[in-house]
Amino acid sequence: MRAGEKGILAFLAVMVVGLIAYRSMHTVPVKDRDQGIPFYTTAAPEVKRKAEVLYKRLGCADCHSLWMVRNMLETVPAPALDGIGSLRDEQWFYDYFSAKNPQAILPSRLKPEFQMPSYAHLPDEERHLLASYMSSLKVKPWYLNETKKAEYEKLTGKKYQASTDE
Ligand code: HEC
Repeated sequence: MRAGEKGILAFLAVMVVGLIAYRSMHTVPVKDRDQGIPFYTTAAPEVKRKAEVLYKRLGCADCHSLWMVRNMLETVPAPALDGIGSLRDEQWFYDYFSAKNPQAILPSRLKPEFQMPSYAHLPDEERHLLASYMSSLKVKPWYLNETKKAEYEKLTGKKYQASTDE
């Protein structure tokens, strides 16, 4: 084989390998694609604005995170509220905020000073506003499934079989 032919063969080999590599990088399975931030709210802008003022005034962010925001000085292991409205409905939130003892509705494993406080003393209108806002905080189904799957596999050590292929 002449030097020129070797050169052409080497060139072709590089092209083929390159093409295969390119193809394998660009046909990514659906579940590995970046699907963006899975949390959103369905609240009207006015409801969202009013509720967030109240949320801030009442210091909810001392314990909870929402939209990645949380008071960094506090270390209470309270649940994140993003997507919470996909798990519970408005009536549940209203009853929870109105309860004299919220732990009767949702039991707590925390020390009393870290537990969810009662907001029964708030005006009815404010409890409704909070409940309406909380129920508007949704999470996209694919993320909920991924989270359930991760949780299941962590707890059981078994592979999770999704009930629906989405
Ligand atoms: C002192 C810390 C603290 C503050 C302040 C606080 N929470 Fe909580 N919250 C918790 C904890 C902890 C829980 C989990 C239940 C428990 O341990 O009592 C919880 C539970 C909840 C839940 C139920 C979550 C679920 O899993 O269903 C909602 C909704 C909620 N809080 C909303 C709020 C809102 C809105 C505010 C402000 C008005 C607020 N919380 C203020 C600590 C707090």
